[in-house]
Amino acid sequence: MLYQIALVIHNALRWLVLFSLLGTLVSAFSGLINRRFYTKADQIIRVMATSIAHTQLLIGFYLYAISPIIRYYWREKPSFAEAAAFPFFALIHISLMLTAVVLMTIGSSKAKRQTDARQQFKTTALYFTIGLVLILAAIPWPFSPLAARPWVRW
Ligand code: HEM
Repeated sequence: MLYQIALVIHNALRWLVLFSLLGTLVSAFSGLINRRFYTKADQIIRVMATSIAHTQLLIGFYLYAISPIIRYYWREKPSFAEAAAFPFFALIHISLMLTAVVLMTIGSSKAKRQTDARQQFKTTALYFTIGLVLILAAIPWPFSPLAARPWVRW
């Protein structure tokens, strides 16, 4: 039961992770293009995106601990050729997502400490763009050849 609930939340929270990340990138690139000050709103969206990603990370770790897919992987070690979804979730999904969220966290705290607005926008744009690419690559989209999961889960 808790497994199902965590899965539904983890599935839905991906959209908040993506939209808040995109919002942060819009703020960072618009700041760079318009050469404006780094405002409270830029800071809020950046911190929100990082916190949402951390929440998703926690639910992900919980899922990793209880998922029958992960348990099966570590018991049987099926190869990619046999059944790609098992190694995908046990190895690839966790590694790419963890790297993405660590990069977002580093970028966010670097931008927080910087005093020059241009530097802050640049740092945020760089770290969050890499984070977005990794997250997009590691999401099990319904069209993914490795592990296809539904857009929405109830
Ligand atoms: C922050 C970025 C993350 C995003 C956007 C994300 C997104 C997703 C999505 C969309 C699914 C498919 C859910 C479904 O089947 O309905 C999924 C499954 C899963 N995620 Fe993540 N995830 C993230 C991070 C993580 C992390 C860091 C871990 C592990 C520590 C993790 C562990 C898992 C596991 C184990 C499953 C499969 C669960 C199962 O089907 O039994 N996720 N993730």
